[in-house]
Amino acid sequence: MSQQIDNHNSGVEADQRIWLTGASSGIGAALAEQLMLQGYSLVLTARNEEKLQDLKEALEKKKAQMAYHSSANTRANARAQAPRIDILAMDISDDSAVAEKRRLLAELAPDLAAIYMCAGVCEYLNFDSQSCATDDWPMVKRVHSVNFLGSVNCIEMALPLLKGFVARTQTQAHIVGLSSLALLMPFTRAEAYGSSKAALHYLLLSLAMDLKPHQIAVTSVLPGFVETPMTDQNNFSMPFIMSPSEAAKRICRGVANRPRVFAFPKRLYLLLKFFSFFPGLWFKKMSPQQEAVK
Ligand SMILES: NC(=O)c1ccc[n+]([C@@H]2O[C@H](COP(=O)([O-])OP(=O)(O)OC[C@H]3O[C@@H](n4cnc5c(N)ncnc54)[C@H](OP(=O)(O)O)[C@@H]3O)[C@@H](O)[C@H]2O)c1
Repeated sequence: MSQQIDNHNSGVEADQRIWLTGASSGIGAALAEQLMLQGYSLVLTARNEEKLQDLKEALEKKKAQMAYHSSANTRANARAQAPRIDILAMDISDDSAVAEKRRLLAELAPDLAAIYMCAGVCEYLNFDSQSCATDDWPMVKRVHSVNFLGSVNCIEMALPLLKGFVARTQTQAHIVGLSSLALLMPFTRAEAYGSSKAALHYLLLSLAMDLKPHQIAVTSVLPGFVETPMTDQNNFSMPFIMSPSEAAKRICRGVANRPRVFAFPKRLYLLLKFFSFFPGLWFKKMSPQQEAVK
């Protein structure tokens, strides 16, 4: 068996719970596995309840297999049994659905060690190449309602429970949000996605200041390209793209010490940082060809 539940070494107590949004797919689903392997109990959120149920069953099967393989060692067996997985299906952008689920989250995780916010959508703005008209402006609001305002809903729900965890354990709680390396430089047609992630990043950085005295750390994670249903739609080159499981492992390692910002992969981060000092170069390279003005 190559992987063992390692909550002993990572200092995770059996009842430590993480609320993970966007768990039904991509990076979120891969993070669910990594966090379970570290020994955390999980509350999984996304809209698609069936997919969450499938993930829960797959994780429980894995957990049971590990318990079986470690049965000779009673302590390891007890640890392997510990993590619990619950489902809280909801649309994080739907204020009334969120209000309805508030009590259920409090029951599932009366005190919460951390929230990992992976729920997100990406849609691109389409301009008519001749007239530069677009019908897509409502889409900008739709993307913001999930990526930014949906995250606000989740933080609002989680905060009292994180405070409960701090009060009970006298240890720091953690808010982790997935923004994106895309916020470092503008990409064409990414008006909605990029601005929603920039807004989320700012929100997280401000919160990092305001929540620090309350023993709640906040980390904004800026991933580069990860191979998921979200990036399947992209028809442009995606340098340094990686698998969701590789991304999840890097995120777990990268946020372990609770930095304010964790950006990866470093090569793409440095490339975009370089262009941020020479924006003229970036705009020349990335702008679509200019149409002749009639
Ligand atoms: N993939 C990349 O290259 C990349 C790069 C940088 C940042 N990110 C960010 O990383 C996060 C995960 O992305 P991914 O690539 O793993 O995408 P993904 O595979 O499309 O997963 C997105 C997740 O968000 C959930 N979701 C979407 N809308 C929701 C809503 N209204 N309420 C609740 N859950 C919702 C989806 O589940 P349901 O459809 O079941 O609701 C799904 O579980 C996103 O925030 C994304 O912006 C991704």
